[in-house]
Amino acid sequence: MKNKTICFLIFLLVPLCALLTQCLNKDKKDPRDEVYAGSDKCIKCHKNVYDSYIHTAHFQSSRPASVNTIHGSFSAGKNIVELNDHLKVMTEKRNAALYQVAYLNGKEVEAHRFDITFGGVKAETYLYWKGKQLFELPLSYFDALHKWTNSPGYAGNRVDFNRPILRRCFECHSSYIKEIPQQNIDLANRIIEYDKSSLIYGIDCERCHGPAANHVNFQTEYPNEKKARYITKFSALTRAQKLDACAVCHSGNKDVFQVSAFVFKMGDTLAKFKEPIFLSQNPNPATLDVHGNQSGLLASSKCFLMSNMDCTTCHNPHINQSANLVIYSQRCMKCHNEANHNFCKMAPKLGALIKNNCIDCHMPLKPSGVISVASVGGKNEVPYLVRTHRIAIYPDETKKIMAFISKQDATPHTLPVGL
Ligand code: HEC
Ligand code: HEC
Ligand code: HEC
Ligand code: HEC
Ligand code: HEC
Ligand code: HEC
Ligand code: HEC
Repeated sequence: MKNKTICFLIFLLVPLCALLTQCLNKDKKDPRDEVYAGSDKCIKCHKNVYDSYIHTAHFQSSRPASVNTIHGSFSAGKNIVELNDHLKVMTEKRNAALYQVAYLNGKEVEAHRFDITFGGVKAETYLYWKGKQLFELPLSYFDALHKWTNSPGYAGNRVDFNRPILRRCFECHSSYIKEIPQQNIDLANRIIEYDKSSLIYGIDCERCHGPAANHVNFQTEYPNEKKARYITKFSALTRAQKLDACAVCHSGNKDVFQVSAFVFKMGDTLAKFKEPIFLSQNPNPATLDVHGNQSGLLASSKCFLMSNMDCTTCHNPHINQSANLVIYSQRCMKCHNEANHNFCKMAPKLGALIKNNCIDCHMPLKPSGVISVASVGGKNEVPYLVRTHRIAIYPDETKKIMAFISKQDATPHTLPVGL
């Protein structure tokens, strides 16, 4: 009898406990689903990876806007873009907040706050919230030019605060945002609204590795288990799967997804997410834009076609190796060296210099057609150059670099970057 009562009590208590813990954890729940643990859970066992990863462009791809994430200036004289004689946009600090303000003939016409920063390596663009809607601000910042300019795709002589931001931007630049479904299916008047609290900034661990709550729970429960469970092993994937893990965000933005790219995880097959008509089996490299299409361009390279390389042959996604061309050149020389009899034919002319920089000759920087800005005040600038991933011989780039070398009095110690 007594046993039975205890049993009954336990029977009652178990769900109560479960309910209680659920309540306590409630505000910690991942907005995606409970199968996600959240990146902060990985620190405990993967501290080295985490500490290194947070310095990468991936992790910082979208962030709350603040003086720390906006590299452009707010000081007088440097905070102005004059679109024409009457119209200008300024960046201003007002109380504790940061604004873009449009002036027509000296009179303020519109002002909106910087809320979200996208980017930070070569370029930054900013978004503001208007209720549940998100819009792009008219000025972007180009790090290489060290200046504000009108945002890509904007007319050079008009201020526009009304360009809505599509979920598609977030699918590549963040880990998650929930779009609120709309009744209005009339495309022209469609409003795009988001659940503000669902936004997970940056590309987090699980955006690549997939939901890992089971992995965290298992490894926490069995701390002596040194083998990973309930997590995809990258090394066990096929080459196509490895490539897809990056191509989901690095094959350009022309693709139309039938299933949201947010659901895609390492190990999935990308073709299953896309509209079949947009699946091009033989990408024509001449029509590929350099912006964001590393996957298509690489696939058209001899290196790729005649080896088993994937993106991780050259890139370690947990480390910021931005602009470290020496490290990248070492990757080339793993396959191309004198011993393999497939080294660069220019090697005798370049001597020891060659080891510093294979990149500017074989993967030159090219202007993006997608990220281009309209001229302001009659000046045409190319603010955004991307490394082409079509690894090949570019005679013109070689000429430029050889000319640079011959102009030096003494042999330079390094090759110039991005001439
Ligand atoms: C309680 C400890 C623990 C936590 C928390 C944890 N892991 Fe792990 N994880 C391990 C162990 C142990 C291994 C196996 C040894 C290793 O590769 O470090 C592992 C391996 C991995 C691997 C490599 C799998 C393979 O074999 O290729 C990935 C990827 C991974 N974890 C991702 C994550 C992510 C993402 C998180 C956070 C959401 C996370 N882990 C949280 C313990 C943990
Ligand atoms: C969820 C989308 C997403 C996935 C998945 C993804 N990337 Fe990226 N990647 C981006 C975006 C967005 C940027 C630009 C970030 C920025 O500068 O704001 C980027 C930038 C990069 C850069 C430039 C880094 C720098 O320092 O400038 C490299 C290299 C890169 N990705 C390689 C990879 C590789 C390799 C993989 C696969 C293992 C991968 N990416 C998977 C979205 C993604
Ligand atoms: C852009 C995609 C991407 C992101 C984001 C990412 N990883 Fe990885 N991770 C990879 C790839 C690809 C590999 C396999 C690397 C290889 O085998 O060369 C890997 C390997 C691992 C491994 C096993 C090998 C190792 O280096 O220890 C662990 C553990 C891991 N990741 C944890 C994490 C954690 C924790 C985070 C977040 C702090 C994270 N990853 C973020 C792509 C990513
Ligand atoms: C298919 C994935 C994809 C989509 C969609 C996408 N981007 Fe990007 N974006 C990238 C990648 C990859 C890079 C970095 C390298 C490059 O330009 O190829 C990048 C670079 C950028 C940069 C410069 C980042 C830096 O650190 O220099 C900005 C700003 C940016 N994107 C904004 C946007 C906005 C705004 C949208 C939506 C209108 C958008 N992107 C849509 C993949 C994407
Ligand atoms: C995984 C091995 C591997 C890596 C890494 C690699 N390549 Fe190659 N590459 C090859 C193979 C295989 C070929 C074709 C046959 C040959 O020349 O050996 C090739 C061909 C080439 C060619 C001739 C292209 C043409 O169109 O005629 C150039 C140039 C080249 N690679 C440069 C590079 C550079 C620069 C890097 C580093 C950014 C690099 N490769 C990295 C394997 C590799
Ligand atoms: C043979 C070596 C090699 C391979 C393979 C490779 N990359 Fe790169 N990648 C580079 C080099 C070199 C750079 C220039 C680095 C820099 O300037 O910071 C680069 C730069 C990038 C950038 C930054 C682009 C820019 O100009 O800002 C992205 C994004 C990127 N790679 C993605 C990828 C993806 C995705 C794959 C697989 C489809 C891949 N890479 C495969 C060598 C490689
Ligand atoms: C100054 C520019 C320049 C630099 C730096 C450079 N290359 Fe080259 N490379 C060339 C040119 C030009 C050719 C074609 C030469 C010819 O066919 O006579 C070439 C040819 C090649 C080939 C094809 C060889 C063949 O058998 O057809 C490979 C592979 C290669 N380079 C790899 C590399 C690697 C790896 C590095 C860095 C260690 C490098 N290159 C540095 C300009 C350069």
